[in-house]
Amino acid sequence: MDVDYDGLIPNNVGLNQDLAVKKALESWHPGYLDWWNDMGPEGFQDALVYLRTAVSVDPKGWAKFGYVKMPDYKWGVLLAPAVEGRTIPFGKHKGEPAWQEVPGEYRAMLRRLLVIQGDTEPASVEQQRYLGATAPSLYDLRNLFQVNVEEGRHLWAMVYLLQKYFGTQGREEAEDLLNRRSGHQDNPRMLGAFNERTPDWLSFFMFTTFTDRDGKMQLAALAQSGFDPLSRTCRFMLTEEAHHMFVGETGVARIVEKTCEIMKSAGTADPATLRALGVIDLDLIQRKINLHYSLTLDLFGNEISTNAANAYNAGIKGRYREDKLADDHGLLNDTYPVLRCIDGKIVEQSVPALSALNMRLRDDFMADTDGGIMRWNKVIERAGLDVRLTLPHVAHHRQIGEFAAIKADPAGNILTDAEWAARRDEFLPTAADAAFIADLMQPVQQPGEYASWIAPPKTGIDGKPGDFEYVQIFE
Ligand SMILES: [Fe+2]
Ligand SMILES: [Fe+2]
Repeated sequence: MDVDYDGLIPNNVGLNQDLAVKKALESWHPGYLDWWNDMGPEGFQDALVYLRTAVSVDPKGWAKFGYVKMPDYKWGVLLAPAVEGRTIPFGKHKGEPAWQEVPGEYRAMLRRLLVIQGDTEPASVEQQRYLGATAPSLYDLRNLFQVNVEEGRHLWAMVYLLQKYFGTQGREEAEDLLNRRSGHQDNPRMLGAFNERTPDWLSFFMFTTFTDRDGKMQLAALAQSGFDPLSRTCRFMLTEEAHHMFVGETGVARIVEKTCEIMKSAGTADPATLRALGVIDLDLIQRKINLHYSLTLDLFGNEISTNAANAYNAGIKGRYREDKLADDHGLLNDTYPVLRCIDGKIVEQSVPALSALNMRLRDDFMADTDGGIMRWNKVIERAGLDVRLTLPHVAHHRQIGEFAAIKADPAGNILTDAEWAARRDEFLPTAADAAFIADLMQPVQQPGEYASWIAPPKTGIDGKPGDFEYVQIFE
């Protein structure tokens, strides 16, 4: 279906013929804008930002670039094209025609999955709302805002499904998505990592590397869903999501690059000396990796989960790249190896594959993340330095699942509470780290200029030259 780009809500779901849903979305719209103005990027709502906007679902030309004030961004409802004759790809309904309406018996399960996914989208905008004030360049400022407006669009994507398919309850959930607040005492967002602070740009790049990648894995699993509108929504969201991880991964890579350059020219690896020279020591970068990686692993939930088994069996949430896997897509007779904590020891156990789907998705996430770490290490290698960054062991610093009850160092050695307390500051960012970073974060707003602690990108956005004014700020 073609994209109607001219109305209040750009869409390719035929909103003009679907008046009840159109009305529901239009009455939700002012509340969304209030939320955006209250909780979106602080201090830059009048700036002109060079943003991409989704205007089509054709993979070759789905976005257009141009200067936009963020509150005027065209947040639309876009579904990837329907696949003719699509069938449910897994679970006990495998081979039946994909559902175009919500199957009654799975209504509650589907609604819950939509709300959990939907809740993460505005949460990250809230977490990142103060970062504009300390952006290291206009290029980075623009990337932050691009991520923010697209998370806003992802909220629209989930709200559309709630309002179209879940009646009164769906409309109530859509309202609640605007009412919860990241980190709020009484009405927080639903998942732990989305209530943490993202107080600085190193945190932002780590968050977009790791936590947005959790988003990618969840969306990829939902893109396999037998509920076709969800599948199509998630497939299109994944197109946008790739850029978020690009922002994170290249952001950290550019920080590492700058640090290595100064390590070489100053001939030192001493953190205090490097900090005095205005770059972030690799030790601190490693501690930030440990923090954000472990917080993100928690998002995958318990390693062994009947909810995940039920959602798979029902045909609602699949595995990562389900359609590329060669097995019976039923998993009733299969097992999967899971790391467990038994009698205070970390052991691998074979468990029924259906109950281990969270673990499996987490393993896929870890494999996907490895590539990013390798690229960061390539930067260090190219600089001729011996240090390497690593991902911590899955048992390190966990609050959910098998390892929540124990303490382990980043290598996976189990520690007593006393050992943990004595060594915690080796593993995770400290108050002194936070103070240093907070001090270091000073805004750079001249086109083509970059803060001392980050290298310029290799290429511009949309082929723009190095000194392009990605954000026009009006005082
Ligand atoms: Fe998102
Ligand atoms: Fe994202």
